[in-house]
Amino acid sequence: MGRKLFIAGNWKMNLSAAQCTALASDLAAGVQSDCPVEVAVCPPSVYLSAVHAALDGSVIRLGAQNVYCESSGAFTGQISPAMLLDIGCRYVIVGHSETRHTIEPHEDDALINRKLLAALAAGLNVILCIGETLDQREQGRTESVLDTQLTGGLANLQSASAQKITIAYEPVWAIGTGQTATTEQAQQAHAFVRTRLAALLDPTAANGIRIQYGGSVKPSNAADLLAQPDVDGALVGGASLKAKDFLEIIKASLQNAAQVSGTAG
Ligand code: PGA
Repeated sequence: MGRKLFIAGNWKMNLSAAQCTALASDLAAGVQSDCPVEVAVCPPSVYLSAVHAALDGSVIRLGAQNVYCESSGAFTGQISPAMLLDIGCRYVIVGHSETRHTIEPHEDDALINRKLLAALAAGLNVILCIGETLDQREQGRTESVLDTQLTGGLANLQSASAQKITIAYEPVWAIGTGQTATTEQAQQAHAFVRTRLAALLDPTAANGIRIQYGGSVKPSNAADLLAQPDVDGALVGGASLKAKDFLEIIKASLQNAAQVSGTAG
């Protein structure tokens, strides 16, 4: 069974309303309706509706960059999973390294897990980001960090919901630094993640879960990374802000597009 490649753009806290809609329109024009690769963009939350409108009629899906773990109530400043669905989101990112390590207060695995379960319960697809820092890699702790983040982030996940999950392996030292993991480092980490998923869920569910690589993906390195057997797509930050670069990454993925047997709903 092939896994449909999945390329997602994380626009982070960038662009104006006009720039977001222009970028979305350019991407909508550049991605054909029969594109064999799944494509999503995750704009800043205040621009989700505008981008949704700009993507009207396109196969590109809309995602949010974060979500809260409660369905409604007195949670000032937060956005519920149902609200994201309501305005057209199909995906949400949880556990991005910037929410784990940069933005205060830092999110821990328990909170990330609550967000993941709440998003799934509402009907969203979830991109769960995991990844080690440079210190952790240098101390030989990469696999134990990935294991902890996976086990914590996916706690209480039913195997039946596994097809709504994408894992994004994003080594923290590669994010926004221009320094990409080598294809060997990426494949090794992805294979480890797949093995752990099989133990946490079941082998069939694990085999169907897409594992994206993220961290300085650009047109020049996308094809090599995506050629790795366990690299099923990319979560792209900086290079997703320019239509030309993001479309080139999608184009690079086409040569590795597997036969589709199923996709997230
Ligand atoms: P980058 O970001 O492509 O700019 O390294 C990736 C990410 O944070 O998802």
